[in-house]
Amino acid sequence: MTDSDQMINEIFDSFNTLNYLLVIIVFIIFGYRPPWWTRKAVDWVQKEIQDLPGPLSLPLLGTRWVFSCGGYTFNKIHEFYADMYEKYGPIVKEEALFNIPVVSVFEKEDIEKVLKSSGKYPIRPPTEAVAAYRKSRPDRYTSAGIVNEQGAVWYHLRTSLTSDLTSPKTISGFLPQVEEIAEDWCSFVRQHRANGDRVFDLEDVVGKLGLETSCALVLGRRLGFLIPGEESDLGSKLAAAVHKNFIAIRDTYFGLPFWKFVQTSAYKNLAESEEMIYKLALELIQTADEATHDSAVFQSVLKADIDHKEKTAAIVDFIAAGIYTLKNSLVFLLYLIAMHPSTQEKILEDSSKSYLKACVLESFRLLPTAYCLARVTEEDLELSGYKVSAGSAVICHTGIACKNDKYFRDAGEFRPERWLGEEKSATTSNATFLVSPFGVGRRICPGKRFIEHVLPIILESTVRNFEIETVEPMELQFEFLLSPKGPTTMLFKDRG
Ligand code: HEM
Repeated sequence: MTDSDQMINEIFDSFNTLNYLLVIIVFIIFGYRPPWWTRKAVDWVQKEIQDLPGPLSLPLLGTRWVFSCGGYTFNKIHEFYADMYEKYGPIVKEEALFNIPVVSVFEKEDIEKVLKSSGKYPIRPPTEAVAAYRKSRPDRYTSAGIVNEQGAVWYHLRTSLTSDLTSPKTISGFLPQVEEIAEDWCSFVRQHRANGDRVFDLEDVVGKLGLETSCALVLGRRLGFLIPGEESDLGSKLAAAVHKNFIAIRDTYFGLPFWKFVQTSAYKNLAESEEMIYKLALELIQTADEATHDSAVFQSVLKADIDHKEKTAAIVDFIAAGIYTLKNSLVFLLYLIAMHPSTQEKILEDSSKSYLKACVLESFRLLPTAYCLARVTEEDLELSGYKVSAGSAVICHTGIACKNDKYFRDAGEFRPERWLGEEKSATTSNATFLVSPFGVGRRICPGKRFIEHVLPIILESTVRNFEIETVEPMELQFEFLLSPKGPTTMLFKDRG
């Protein structure tokens, strides 16, 4: 050992634990961090909303520029979100005006966390323009209505208005009428065929069915939208007004909110359509007959412990909420069944009706008209490793998750069999929260049970009467709801 080696050893030997500690503290004070420390530190500092990936955000304007010069349109917003998921992964941030963040989640774990975390009064981000319009009409409305209210006001409306709508007794009492409606719809289809079994503009024909069914539920009487010769123009006007309303809601909801400062054309369309729906619904209420007064749903609204203005508003909301959603869901269901002729044979062969119900579930998985669910978070949540603080707007992309092979085998294929037999448990375990066409939790659609009974009855009746075939691929369009772009042509051949 050389002298210098000996000296180094002596220095080290003279260092006791205290000296080592002192050296470490000095290093820390002067900012030195060993690599393992730095790695840990990054993990400890949780990533926040501002760190989320997403399209370039401009000061004040946020990311909404993508819909004016970024190559996307509101009509195809579903494609925009599918691209965002592919580009940025399971969690993405957009920014609205004044850089208010809006978070999108695409995978099961996050979607479940958001939807499960709601408390007594879940907050669905309101359609602000509708709320503003209704506020401007105190002669008609005392609140923004069940669809747009929040907190205790919403809860009061919900509990006062929906118990009869959701009761199994109301629904079972209504089923014979649905069967009649289904038969009338088949006759209506026959009347509307042209050029060798073709139904042009399926949306319009199915729209009449949606109108007849929703109005029969809410008003307790048949309005004759499906009876040739008795077709009033009220039905067409109502359907057109509800359509215009959804598009105006989309444009005011996703566009920059200039309508708050000036009357934009989107806001004008919204006000006009709200006006028209109200006027037509009032006409329907005022011509109420015996049957209407016997209707459980109508009666429950009349008896509800709410301001009388709210009662008309509730009827308006029920009719408007049912017509367009039902039309879209039925067009999608018929289209998917027509695309897969073997499913029609299976429906006819299966007396248990399980296959019929599986077809309805599978169409909701593959083409849900309400293809995402929105909430404002009520507590801090950790989503895909980011801290999303309470009060954030989060869009749960259930429709995109439903097409993910991670959750459903061959997710892009229409296979009702996945809901039956051996595959059933794997499918249903992933379906909770993802296949949620009517939403989830306390704000779930109060029309759910009713529609779940209506769709199989109409599908069965259609398939018993017709062999249905597609003529051309269907294009999708976002109109606040995912909708067929239309006009869709389909073949309805009499079944021999
Ligand atoms: C195929 C038909 C329908 C579909 C796909 C549908 C879908 C939905 C969805 C996704 C929601 C939001 C749920 C959430 O945020 O968790 C909702 C809410 C609502 N739906 Fe439906 N719906 C349909 C038919 C109906 C019908 C027939 C009625 C009334 C008779 C109705 C009345 C309502 C109302 C009042 C709300 C607001 C509930 C609340 O916020 O408390 N819907 N619907």
